[in-house]
Amino acid sequence: MPSTANAEHAMEARIAHLLQSLTLREKIGQLQQVQGGGGHVPDELARAIREGRVGSVINEVDAGTVARLQTIAAHESRTGIPLLIGRDVIHGFATVFPIPLGMASSWHPALVERASGIAAHEASTRGVNWTFAPMIDIGRDPRWGRVAEGFGEDPWLSGVMATAAVRGFQGDDLSAPGRIAACAKHFVGYGASESGRDYNTTNIAPRELHDVHLPPFEAAVRAGVASVMTSFSDLDGVPATAHRELLQGVLRESWGFDGLVVSDWDSIRQLSVHGIASDDRDAARQAALAGVDMEMASETYAAHLESLIAAGVVSAEQLDRMVANVLRLKLRLGLFEQPGKRVDALRPAGHATHLAVAREVARESMVLLTNTMHAGSYLMPLDPSRLRRIALIGPLADDAHEQMGTWVFDGDASLSCTVRQALQGALPPTVQLEYARGIPTTRSHDTSGFDEAAACAQDADVAVLVLGEEAILSGEAHCRADVSLPGVQEALIDAIVATGTPVVLVIMAGRALALERVAHKVHALWYAWHAGSMAGPAFADLLFCTHAPSARLPVTLPRVTGQVPIYYAHKHTGKPATADTIIAIQDIEPRAPQLSVGNTSFHLDVHPSPLFPFGYGLTYTWVHYDAPSVQRAEVPLDGCVELSATISNRGAHAVVEVVQLYVRDLIGSVTRPVKELKGFQRVPLAPGERRTVRFSLPVSELAFTGRDMRRRPEPGRFHAWIAPHSATQDHVEFTVSD
Ligand code: NOJ
Repeated sequence: MPSTANAEHAMEARIAHLLQSLTLREKIGQLQQVQGGGGHVPDELARAIREGRVGSVINEVDAGTVARLQTIAAHESRTGIPLLIGRDVIHGFATVFPIPLGMASSWHPALVERASGIAAHEASTRGVNWTFAPMIDIGRDPRWGRVAEGFGEDPWLSGVMATAAVRGFQGDDLSAPGRIAACAKHFVGYGASESGRDYNTTNIAPRELHDVHLPPFEAAVRAGVASVMTSFSDLDGVPATAHRELLQGVLRESWGFDGLVVSDWDSIRQLSVHGIASDDRDAARQAALAGVDMEMASETYAAHLESLIAAGVVSAEQLDRMVANVLRLKLRLGLFEQPGKRVDALRPAGHATHLAVAREVARESMVLLTNTMHAGSYLMPLDPSRLRRIALIGPLADDAHEQMGTWVFDGDASLSCTVRQALQGALPPTVQLEYARGIPTTRSHDTSGFDEAAACAQDADVAVLVLGEEAILSGEAHCRADVSLPGVQEALIDAIVATGTPVVLVIMAGRALALERVAHKVHALWYAWHAGSMAGPAFADLLFCTHAPSARLPVTLPRVTGQVPIYYAHKHTGKPATADTIIAIQDIEPRAPQLSVGNTSFHLDVHPSPLFPFGYGLTYTWVHYDAPSVQRAEVPLDGCVELSATISNRGAHAVVEVVQLYVRDLIGSVTRPVKELKGFQRVPLAPGERRTVRFSLPVSELAFTGRDMRRRPEPGRFHAWIAPHSATQDHVEFTVSD
C-alpha cells in the first residue's frame, strides 16, 4: 500500500478503536459544540467536558483558557479526546484583510491563500484549530448583507477563491503548527435568500443549484476542505440542515467528502421553527438522518439521540459514522498528539510581516472605476509634487474600526491605519492635508458639517471623499432594501462637487452599492470595499502610484436597487432588450398604445445595463486587446480549446492586467447564460509591451446540467471572449463536435 493509503488505513483503524472505547453518551458528546468565551472555564463547562459531553467549544480565544479546556478534555475526562476549538476567522484575525468580497476583487488567488494562511497562523496562537470559513455562497443580490463574506456572483471565480482560502487555512498538513481546519459554508443556496433578506426562504431551480450554487463547494471539497456547514435557509421547502439528498447524495456520495458536517448556530433546533419538525426530538432525528454530524449551540442531539437510537429510529451505525467524522478531523489536526498545537514558534498576531501582506491584499482589492480628464491629464494618479493642498472628507476617511468590515471578532483596530493617517505619512511637507468629517456617520441626515466640508474643498487642488457604509450595515442579519448611499451622502457629494474642485470618491462598503446618481458627477471613483487594517496605506500606494491598480469587480454594480439581482451570466431570454426598444419613461406619449415601447426585456425607468459590469476595473494605462483567435475551430468533446489574444500596454505605467476568458454556448438543450467566466490570467505588462495570452480550455469545463439533468458538455457552436471585463464584444467562434 502506498504510504498515504497506509496512513489513512491506520487512521480509520484508530477511529474504529476509539469508537469501541466510547460509551453511547460519550459518542453523543462528541457531536456537541458548546459556547465558550469570556476567558475563563465555567464550572459547568469543565464538568461537561470531564464527563465527555462536549466535542467542540466555539468562541473561546484566550490562549490560557483554551489550553485549560484541552487539558480537561485530554487528561481529566475518561475519553481523553481533545476538543475542536471553533471561531469565525473570516478575513483575518487580529490583522484584518479586506472582506472576502474585496479579496475576490484582487483576482489573485495566491495572495488570498497567503492572507488565509496568516489568519490561520494568528488564530492558532490562541488555540483556535477550526475556522468557519470560507463562506462561498454565490451572492447576486446586494441587499443581502452577507454578500460581504463571499467571493461574489460567479461560481468559477468563487471556486478559485474557495480553493485558495482552503489551502491557506489548512496547508498540506493540518497537523502542522499554524494550520487550522477550514469549513465551506453555507451548504447550500443561502445566497439566494428571497429579496436579499437574511435567513429567508430560497427557491433555486435544480439546474441553477447544480450549475451556480454547488460548484464552489465542489471546488472546496476537491481542495480538501475539512468541514462543511449547513445553511440556515430552506430550499424548495426543505431546510438545508435536514437536506438528505444534498448532504448524502451530493456531498458524500457524488463528491466523496469524508470530513465533518456541522450545523449552523441552532439550525437543528430551528427545524421546528421552520415548521418541518414537530419538536426538538423530531428535529434531531431529521438532522441526524440527513447527515449533520455536529450540532452547533442547540442541544437536541444531546437531549434526544440516545432515545432515538433506543427506538431504532437512528441506527447505531449512523451514530458511529457521525462520531467517526468528528474523530477523523481531530486526528487530522494532530490533536491527540498535541491538543494545544505548538504555538511558541509562531509569529505573534499583528506582526509586521502580516500587516505587509494585509497592505498588499488591500491594494490589490481596490477597484478604480472612473478616471476622467482634468486640466489636460487624467486625475488619477495624483502627483504630490504638483499639489499644494488636499481636502480629505468623509466619516470613513479616519475610522480605524469601520474600515475593518464585518466579522472582525478578533480584529485589532489599534493595528489599523486610516486613509487620513496614511496620506499624512505619504505626503511631502509641501502638501497640506485638511480633513473635514462632513457627516457624523454614513447614515446620518445631519447636514450641519456640509459648510465646513465645502470650505475645506474650496481651496484645495483636489477633494478626496471617503464615503459608503459603516461595517455594521453589512454582514449577517444586516440587509438593506435600498442599496444606494445611505443618509445624506449624495447631498454631501453635490455640495463638494459644487465647489468646482475635482473630486475623488472612494467607496468603502460591504456590498455592491447602486451609485448611478453620483458616479458620473465625480472625477474619479474607487471601490475600496472594507479593506481591513491597512486600508489607508494601500489606498495611498494607489493614489500616488507607488503601485498601479489591477483589481476587478467580482460582482456587477447595479444602477439602482430595482435592478437586482443583476449579474453578467444572465439568460438571453426570447426578447432581449435592444438599443432601439429601450425608452425612457418620460418619453412615453400620453395614452400611448401598449405595444408602442416595444416588447423586450427592460425596465421603463432604468437602462438595462449595469452601472459597471462584472470583471471591470481600470488602471493607469491603456491595455489594448487584439481580437481573440482559436487554434482549431472544431474540437472533439474530449478535446481542449486553444485560445489566444495579443494584448499591449499602450501607456506609460507598468501594470498587471487581469485577462479574462468568457464563453457562450449558443444552442443548448436548455437555455444557457450569455457569458460564463472560464479562466483568467494575471499578466504583467511593462510600458509598450505586447504579449500573447493563451488559454487551454478543456471541453469538459463547458459542462452544464442539460435537459436530462445530466451534467456534461453538449456539442455545438460556442463564442469565446478574451477580454478585460464581461461586457466586451469582440469574440471568436468554435464548434464542439461529437
Ligand atoms: C451563524 C453564521 O451563519 C455562521 O456563518 C457562523 O459561522 C456561525 N453563526 C458561528 O458564529
